[in-house]
Amino acid sequence: MKPSKQHVLLLWILLSSTVINAVEPFSSFKIPNFTETWNSFWGESCNSYWISFNQTGLKADLENKLFGQHIASDIIFKSVSGFMNDDNPKKPLVLSLHGPTGTGKNFVSQLIADNIYKKGYHSKFVHVFSATLHFPHRSEIVTYKSQLQEWIKNGVTNCERSVFIFDEMNQIPPGVIDSIKPYLDYGKVEGVFFQKSIIIFLSNTGADQITKTAVDFWKNGKDREEMMLKDFESFISPIVFNSDQSSFSKSTLIDSCLLDVFIPFLPLEYKHVVQCAMAAMRDKGRQPDENVADRAARSLVYYPKLEKVFAVSGCKTVANRVHLYR
Ligand SMILES: Nc1ncnc2c1ncn2[C@@H]1O[C@H](COP(=O)(O)OP(=O)(O)O)[C@@H](O)[C@H]1O
Ligand SMILES: *[C@@H]1O[C@H](CO)[C@@H](O)[C@H](O)[C@H]1NC(C)=O
Ligand SMILES: *[C@@H]1O[C@H](CO)[C@@H](O)[C@H](O)[C@H]1NC(C)=O
Ligand SMILES: [Mg+2]
Repeated sequence: MKPSKQHVLLLWILLSSTVINAVEPFSSFKIPNFTETWNSFWGESCNSYWISFNQTGLKADLENKLFGQHIASDIIFKSVSGFMNDDNPKKPLVLSLHGPTGTGKNFVSQLIADNIYKKGYHSKFVHVFSATLHFPHRSEIVTYKSQLQEWIKNGVTNCERSVFIFDEMNQIPPGVIDSIKPYLDYGKVEGVFFQKSIIIFLSNTGADQITKTAVDFWKNGKDREEMMLKDFESFISPIVFNSDQSSFSKSTLIDSCLLDVFIPFLPLEYKHVVQCAMAAMRDKGRQPDENVADRAARSLVYYPKLEKVFAVSGCKTVANRVHLYR
């Protein structure tokens, strides 16, 4: 313990006890919560104060904050709650999120983290790997493989309730991900336990086919909410597996069915973009203004060319556009 910290701690104990005695009669005074003070003093650690799953919170977030993704919302809620409520899972939970850009894949990963860690996405137990940042060069696959194994092993050694997010999965050089297969496969490798961690893959692989399915549904006059997982399952796995671009390609991960769940993210419609714009204003502490949201949403590009139903880049840019229409 650093001397300064020691002093602060002592001071706090002294102060709080005298303060409590002095002002006890006044009911408006809030007694400092020892658990909270103690834990914030020492910083984030791998215990139930910092890590506890909020099932109602996850449900509420998926219902109120994630727009237009009824399939993803349902599967994510069920699989994450099932996994987090299991005290002794056999292997880690592996989620694979697929869909066009700006439809909420990164966003939903944040919602998951927010409802597991007190510090949410910024917890030190949430590890995000990005293709362009961590694995930029195809020539260095061998190095990446051992680096990634090391990162994952260290992460889980620090805390078995860890989340690993692989962003832009389709750009990670083929083979790199395969190096973590043993960890996903068995719960325990070299004395390190992996079965309590969550691994989330994000990718655009299969986005074209997901989009095509959504457009066909729309053209046939069917409700978006009628789309079901089975409308996508049949094509998602073969595409991911066969795509040359994909780091899943010829991947042993698929081979051995290690990816628990494929989760399609649907292209977003105008009304969802409006919802995103309203949420963006709320987030920035602005009074949400329907008129502004409407203009921001209308300024985006939509497809198919003629019918203009789905936003080309989803909700990606709309948060910045609400500034333009005050
Ligand atoms: N379905 C959605 N519901 C609510 N907000 C969304 C949704 N999709 C995107 N957004 C908003 O747009 C931003 C960018 O989306 P992001 O999750 O990064 O897209 P992706 O990872 O699918 O490319 C998010 O931070 C979020 O604010
Ligand atoms: C103090 O905070 C902890 C964690 O937030 C909580 O579980 C506990 O009930 C609180 N105690 C009191 C006395 O408020
Ligand atoms: C869980 O989430 C709900 C809804 O967001 C919130 O009201 C509640 O305080 C959360 N519970 C804990 C223990 O954080
Ligand atoms: Mg993304």
